[in-house]
Amino acid sequence: MNQSSVIPVIAIDGPTASGKGTVAQRVAERLGFHYLDSGSLYRLAALAAERAGVDLADEPGVASVAGRMDIRFAEGKVWLAGEDVSDEIRSERASQNASLVAALPAVRDALLQRQRDFRQAPGLVGDGRDMGSVVFPDATVKFFLTASVEARAERRTKQLKEKGMSAIMADVVKELRIRDDRDMNRPVAPLKHYPDAYLIDTTDISAATAVEEILGVYQKMP
Ligand code: CDP
Repeated sequence: MNQSSVIPVIAIDGPTASGKGTVAQRVAERLGFHYLDSGSLYRLAALAAERAGVDLADEPGVASVAGRMDIRFAEGKVWLAGEDVSDEIRSERASQNASLVAALPAVRDALLQRQRDFRQAPGLVGDGRDMGSVVFPDATVKFFLTASVEARAERRTKQLKEKGMSAIMADVVKELRIRDDRDMNRPVAPLKHYPDAYLIDTTDISAATAVEEILGVYQKMP
């Protein structure tokens, strides 16, 4: 067993706006663990490729940019080549671009080690689509958070409005379905509830309740 595999990991996967980001961050705070927002790496890869003039369908080109992009996470913000891009990577366009490049196996490979490097003592909470299936298959405990399309679209609309971005519910539902469909049907690391992950449906429960559920399961682990 190598050193890093003894560091605990809580893997939280699920579709967009299932609440996994908020929940994962709160669980990390409560335990004093590090937090990996893996989706932001795909968002950054798409943005970095665009800025380098690389077509998003150019798999080796995007993978090469993803492997060497200069990124930094601190105080809840994200920097690309020294520029704060926290808001830019959250737009709907950036979300769709992230999901496009995330379907490319070479891009996923280029980001794999960067994600595993977040596994540092005393522990890590990772959120994404393949935390439990590919990046940390030996995670201490795995969760799959989901919610109805309506509940997710409502949350996403609220999030976008809070960020001062325009959002029409019907458009959000459409975009969410396109992204879910692409994420679930790609051949590599598809978004899926694997049987080794605890299922939490957040349609009718608050983020606080989901956090308690996760902490309860984690604390009972041997
Ligand atoms: O916050 P939201 O759930 O809307 O998106 P995200 O977690 O930031 O992920 C953006 C996109 O990156 C997703 O639609 C996936 O296509 C991709 N992604 C992935 O393929 N694997 C991950 N571990 C995380 C994100």
